[in-house]
Amino acid sequence: QKGGYSHFMLKEIHEQPEAVKNTLSEVSDIENIVSQFPQFKRITFVACGTSHHASLVGKYLFEALLGLPTDVVLASEFEFSEGAIDPDSLVIFISQSGETADTLKALKIANKKAKTLAIVNVLGSTATREADYVIFTRAGPEIGVAATKTYISQLTCIYLLAACMGKNRELLDELQQIPDYMKTVLLLEEDIKEMAAKYKDAQDFFFIGRGFSYPTAMEGALKLKEITYIHGEGYAAGELKHGPLALIDDDVPVVAVVPPGKSHDRTLSNVEEVKARGARVIGLGSEDDQVLSYEASDMIKFPSQIRELISPLLYVVPLQLLSYHMSVQRGIDPDKPKNLAKCVTVE
Ligand code: F6R
Repeated sequence: QKGGYSHFMLKEIHEQPEAVKNTLSEVSDIENIVSQFPQFKRITFVACGTSHHASLVGKYLFEALLGLPTDVVLASEFEFSEGAIDPDSLVIFISQSGETADTLKALKIANKKAKTLAIVNVLGSTATREADYVIFTRAGPEIGVAATKTYISQLTCIYLLAACMGKNRELLDELQQIPDYMKTVLLLEEDIKEMAAKYKDAQDFFFIGRGFSYPTAMEGALKLKEITYIHGEGYAAGELKHGPLALIDDDVPVVAVVPPGKSHDRTLSNVEEVKARGARVIGLGSEDDQVLSYEASDMIKFPSQIRELISPLLYVVPLQLLSYHMSVQRGIDPDKPKNLAKCVTVE
């Protein structure tokens, strides 16, 4: 059942190239849905947890590629901020299960005011019956409680949607290369396992990134919390100096997400700031990035062709593996973290 892997989570991490490939085959359905869209003036994403982080990537992407004002609202907060949507809005609900109570409640409210689109992994789930439009992520069943391949498939759908809405052929072509890049990234597993052994006894971590890398930092911190029970904070790198820098010392490792692009130099200056306070830094960046490689205590290197705009699809993968190996090394079952359920059907 686990296909030779020790846990479902590990199997599902390794299934991600296939999950992207299968989700990419949805492109004609997505083109068809987009052709039915009226002219939307704004987009609001609504979701919880990991699906919320996929939504944050959606915001940066829709604003960068489509110039559409895009908000992201946590599903549990939606009833307190629904005023922002109107009949010109498209409200996009992202949910692996399609059964999350907070998300379904927000969907009911939004249906009365605007067009709704659900991006869901489970066929026939409640969200798929209630939304005006539905797109399926083709991740296949996910057993591990921590979302991994469903997150990657959600991101793939969001990129496809932005590419179809913007008639962006170049991006569609670039997305076809993601499964191969992901296979290359997965080959880093042995190095990451060794890294996990070095860091597994820390009590607090920070994960930092800017722009497209901010959601990756948030997702890295969430994976850490849920399966290792270590405290991790995902922070916009520029916000560090507005408070949390007071917490940084040599006991607090910092994971810095620094792909090549607009955010690179400024996040690098934050890496220098935390290093000056004694922090060990795990840097995620391009194989060509000699400055980051010099500054970081440990470096996770990605193919240099992976530009910032598509980096969320790939840079999160080593962070899933890092948490997975720390979890196992700490004697925890990553498939069944305490206090958590795969599907949250209470508000
Ligand atoms: C984290 C995780 C949760 C879910 C959240 C939403 O690994 O799995 O944070 O992402 O409960 O669930 P769905 O996507 O089913 O609405």
